[in-house]
Amino acid sequence: NKVVLAYSGGLDTSAIIPWIKENYSLEVIAFVADVGQSKNDLDGISEKAIQSGASDCYIVDLKKDFVYDYIFPVLSTGALYEGNYLLGTAMARPIIAKEQIKLAHQTNSIAVCHGATGKGNDQVRFEMAYAALDPNLKVLSPWRKWKLSSREELIDYLKSKNISTTATKEKIYSRDENIWHISTEGGVLENTWNEPDNNCWVWTTDPMMAPDKAEYITIEFDKGYPITINNNSLNLVDCLIYLNKIGSKHGIGRIDIVENRLIGIKSRGCYETPGGTILVTAMRALEQLILDRDSFQWRQKLGLKMATVVYDGLWFSPIRKSIQNAAHVFFNMLSGKIVLKLYKGNIIVIKKYSQQSLYSEEFATFGKDTVYDQHDAQGFIKLFSLSSKIRAMKNKK
Ligand code: ARG
Ligand code: SIN
Repeated sequence: NKVVLAYSGGLDTSAIIPWIKENYSLEVIAFVADVGQSKNDLDGISEKAIQSGASDCYIVDLKKDFVYDYIFPVLSTGALYEGNYLLGTAMARPIIAKEQIKLAHQTNSIAVCHGATGKGNDQVRFEMAYAALDPNLKVLSPWRKWKLSSREELIDYLKSKNISTTATKEKIYSRDENIWHISTEGGVLENTWNEPDNNCWVWTTDPMMAPDKAEYITIEFDKGYPITINNNSLNLVDCLIYLNKIGSKHGIGRIDIVENRLIGIKSRGCYETPGGTILVTAMRALEQLILDRDSFQWRQKLGLKMATVVYDGLWFSPIRKSIQNAAHVFFNMLSGKIVLKLYKGNIIVIKKYSQQSLYSEEFATFGKDTVYDQHDAQGFIKLFSLSSKIRAMKNKK
């Protein structure tokens, strides 16, 4: 009998392989999802899995599907968790789980396993997806079962099994990386009075060290999707890679936040989402031009709900699709061109243009105009203020 393990090559999932073999007498198939994490993490990963005792290792390139079927659908709704978390880890879990289940079916496995701890969101996200996609598979969650509780113990356990590891016992950050972001938790960040140290930030240049000269970029959008950057056509994957590169260079997309985890614990995390932050900023500028007030507010509500739905691991649920479909109406309206200035951690919107813009210089001008009769405002204010007036008169009596 076999189990498919979502394997990252890190310490936790490395220890899980011998632990499963010992406790369940199952054959372990390692599944590595390439969602755009660093090449270093993928180098020699098959050998590592086999050396740890896996009977097989499958590496599947999911980058394109991740960008097209997960990242942009979430972006299209304007979802931001608790104000500014761009959901990079939350979006990756359902696609990993989906491919993992697929592999479990292909290999006639009876179980799936993940290496998330029992204290976080990821366990919920993995298992929500497993439940929605195949409730008959057995789910193993070693972190909630084994007695190992620290890096030291995991390292000693591997040693006792004669499995070599490059992991060291010093307390390190917990990271999660993909094409959209890298997240950093734990380590010195656990004390909210500590400033993130030099090793905390991975992708982005320290804004203080970023180039002294601002860089301008022009992004053209068609029905919500970025189609050219500085007049060069790019597919969505290359667009994201390019924006990550230029954003990182200018120290863009860093946040250091305390967030509410689904299971009730507050946690602190540093996130780097340079390309995503540029896209969100540019899209916001288009929304300002194009959407009327009610549409804008409704889109915000959809985004707020979507953020919770995605954060909580409800990807394979009707509500996620329903929100996405509703938000598509607005996303589809976002065509135009935005010029941004990148400078030491800042993204400054310099120019905006859209054929669908409701903004009219003729109407908005502070100068003399011929389209708006200011007398009309008088009657409007009279009626708009009527209830205030009545209340004031009553209070006077
Ligand atoms: N707190 C973030 C989230 O819940 C990031 C989690 C990072 N996960 C990890 N396995 N290091 O989405
Ligand atoms: C973990 O607990 O495995 C990482 C953090 C999280 O899932 O929120």
